[in-house]
Amino acid sequence: MLEKIVNIKSEAALQAEKIDSPQLLENFRLKYLSRNGMLNELFEEMKSVDKQKKGLVGKALNELKNSLQNAFNEKKSFFETDKKDISILDDITLPGKKFNTGTKHLINQALDDISEIFRKIGFNVYEGFEIEDEYHNFDALNTPDWHPSRDMQDTFYLDSKGKDKRYLLRTHTSPGQIRVMEQSMPPIRVIVPGKCYRNEAISSRSLGMFHQIEGLYVDKNVTFRELKGTLDYFAKSFFGKDLKTRLRPSFFPFTEPSAEMDVECYLCKGKGCRICKYSGWLEILGCGMIDPNVFNFVGYDPEEYSGYAFGMGIERTLMIKHGIPDIRMFYENDIRFLKQFK
Ligand code: PHE
Repeated sequence: MLEKIVNIKSEAALQAEKIDSPQLLENFRLKYLSRNGMLNELFEEMKSVDKQKKGLVGKALNELKNSLQNAFNEKKSFFETDKKDISILDDITLPGKKFNTGTKHLINQALDDISEIFRKIGFNVYEGFEIEDEYHNFDALNTPDWHPSRDMQDTFYLDSKGKDKRYLLRTHTSPGQIRVMEQSMPPIRVIVPGKCYRNEAISSRSLGMFHQIEGLYVDKNVTFRELKGTLDYFAKSFFGKDLKTRLRPSFFPFTEPSAEMDVECYLCKGKGCRICKYSGWLEILGCGMIDPNVFNFVGYDPEEYSGYAFGMGIERTLMIKHGIPDIRMFYENDIRFLKQFK
């Protein structure tokens, strides 16, 4: 009988190893552990074993029982945990969890897009300072003391007591022109993107802070025609091919001659409406040929070099491109607004 027990034990061990489904596990239980299974049969048989041998056989039988039970329990718990996993997978048709990911704000997106448009035609990016001194923001740009734009009403001056210069929050990106020219010699092709500040009443068109991109090109024999061609290229790349633009004479202290570029009104397409004040056009940038006085300030010979500059408001440009009615919408962080520009 001992031999029989040993045989069953090794046979059962082999079978247990092969169990890979709950069905096989059940077969195993029926064969060995159920009421009519082999184990009970052996216990029955033990009753007729000689008294002397009973101890030995009993011990072997108990060992067999334990090993069968252990093998069964082990497999059982394996299938139970597996089953839990399967129950999660059962729901693969349920919609997944959506995570909100942040995206670039449309102002930064526009700064990137515009930088890329100019990078393609050889412009580098220079980032100036938001805190500037009066010299770079005004004097060197041929904007003398008495000029109205220096008025306390437009400019945020900083408390510069005890300092040798008067500091302010730059009112445009044009001081970037001066800083680039101070640091390098022509040929120069840069754009200067960044924040600017003007002390204006808050309304649908102004907020006290806004973004500009400045462009500067200096070399020998630069002409107004190149300025016009570059701005045309920009407008077509940024707004799309079918939007008309025009240049209109204007004045800036640091450019001569000066002009402003308008684009066709996005709403009425040039017919005239409330948005464009019935002119059919919306202004997006100021530009012109660098005034010789500015070259004198940075030590360039105006007889040798010429150049052009332009500066455009980003919020204004985006309002025109997307038909955004109020500048404050850019900064309210309303997700319903931001989502539209992903
Ligand atoms: N700095 C001017 C402004 O803020 C724009 C400008 C830039 C005009 C460069 C001419 C040349 O309105």
